[in-house]
Amino acid sequence: MENFSFPFQQTSGITLPAHIQQLIEAANKATHFAYAPYSQFRVGAAALLADGSIKTGSNHENASYPAGICAERGLLSGINPLDKQQQILAMAVCYTSNTDNTTPLSPCGICRQTILEMQLAQDAPIAMYMCSPDGQVIYVEDAAHLLPFYFSSKNLKNK
Ligand code: THU
Repeated sequence: MENFSFPFQQTSGITLPAHIQQLIEAANKATHFAYAPYSQFRVGAAALLADGSIKTGSNHENASYPAGICAERGLLSGINPLDKQQQILAMAVCYTSNTDNTTPLSPCGICRQTILEMQLAQDAPIAMYMCSPDGQVIYVEDAAHLLPFYFSSKNLKNK
């Protein structure tokens, strides 16, 4: 058998560089724009772009549950990874909920697939900062670490 391993860091947010703390702050603020009447799980996502701007998104639920959308995908639909100025350097994801859970946010599988599509399209890694309500952060330098054996456009081509 072979093993898969990847580097990650778990840290308190206050130890991170100022521009990353700003990104996390933007994701935290975006939780206020979540529409989550069913789960009460309010997610905020923020992306730092190559032009220095920060874009945000939040989850929006629906009475027809599958029609809801995660914060990450809401955010990413407003960014074109083929435009150099809009390339994503880093993303932060934060949440608040009605539980006492303090596990850092773990993006769902569909969002990981979507983040990876963006990373492959822009041909540069997206650093991921996954945050807990009490200020803990898990950090990976490359979104591909979060989705081993991922499906991509390569699978659609002849060898
Ligand atoms: N959610 C996100 O917005 N992002 C994730 O990565 C995980 C889950 C949302 C979807 C739903 O509105 C709520 O959190 C509970 O699953």
